Amino acid sequence: MTGRVRKGIILAGGSGTRLHPLTDVTSKQLLPVYDKPIIYYPLTTLIQAGIDDILIISTPRDLPSIERLLGDGARLGIRLHYTEQPRPEGIAQAFLIGEEFISGQPVTLILGDNLFYGDLEGFREALSAGSGAAIFGYPVANPSRYGVAEVDAQGAVLSIEEKPSEPRSNLAVAGLYVYDEQVCELARELRPSARGELEITDLNQAYLRLGRLRLYRLSRGTAWLDTGTFESLLAASMFVGTIEQRQSVRIGCPEEAALRAGFVSPETMMQALTDAPASAYTTYIRMVCEEIASGV
Ligand code: TTP
Repeated sequence: MTGRVRKGIILAGGSGTRLHPLTDVTSKQLLPVYDKPIIYYPLTTLIQAGIDDILIISTPRDLPSIERLLGDGARLGIRLHYTEQPRPEGIAQAFLIGEEFISGQPVTLILGDNLFYGDLEGFREALSAGSGAAIFGYPVANPSRYGVAEVDAQGAVLSIEEKPSEPRSNLAVAGLYVYDEQVCELARELRPSARGELEITDLNQAYLRLGRLRLYRLSRGTAWLDTGTFESLLAASMFVGTIEQRQSVRIGCPEEAALRAGFVSPETMMQALTDAPASAYTTYIRMVCEEIASGV
C-alpha cells in the first residue's frame, strides 16, 4: 500500500432477514446496541484507527435515514460520503460501488453490524503495511457461521472457506479488512457465487493465490461481536451495558474518538453541542471535551 490507509468503507446494507420483524421498516445498523445505534460502533473503530474519509453504503430504503443520523461528518472533523447498493449482491460489491471514492488508494472495509472493542493493534499495523490484503482472525465456538481461515504454524494463511459445514479451524474471519490499491481490479474479476453474491471470501482468496494475504489474530483482550441474530444483538447490548455502567466510559462514541484522534477540537465540539438534546450521551461528550481541554 502506498502509505498509510486513510479511506474506509462501512457496508451497512443487507436484508437483515434473521432479525425480522425488527428490520421490516428500519435498517439493522440503526437498531440499538445498548445506548446507541449499531453503526456508531464500526464508525468509531475507523475513527480510532485514524480513518477520516469514509464511504457509507446502504440500501436505497435505509441510506437517507443513516445520512440523517450521521450527516457529512464535519461535526466530527471527518468526511462522510453515501452511496446506495441497489440490491444485497455481496460484500465484495462494495469495491465496485465504491470505486470512484476509492480512486486507486488503499482502503479498509468494516461491516456495519460488527462491533470491536479493545486493543486493535493488528488493525493499526495493517493500515500502515506496505501492500496486499489483511484479514483478522478470531477464535469462535461456532465457526461454520463465518468465513473460516486455516493457518500454518508460522501463521501463514493456507485456506479460507465461506461458512464451511466442516470447518478446518475455529478461526473466524472478522468483518474488518484492509486492501491495497489493487482491490477494485480484483473485485471486477469476481463472479457471483451459488447464492448470487460477490463473496468477500473469493476476494480474499484472490489475494491468497497471489501470496499477498496476511492474517492478524485479534488478541485475547479484544472483543468481536456481530449483531445479526436476536441472541447476538442482546449479547452485544449486555456487553456494552456492563462495561459502560461499571467503568463510566462509553464504547462506540464517534465524538469521543474524533476528539481523541485530534480530528476536532473540544471548543468546536462544545459549540456543536449547543442545541444537542439534554441526554446522558450529550453530558458524556461534554465531559470528554472538558477532560481533553484541561489536558487531563
Ligand atoms: P449479513 O449479516 O451476512 O446479511 P444481512 O445483513 O443481509 O442479514 P441476514 O443474513 O439476516 O439477511 O451481512 C453482514 C453485513 O454486511 C451487514 O452489515 C449487512 C452488510 N451487507 C451489505 O451491506 N450488502 C450485502 O450485499 C451483504 C451480503 C451484506
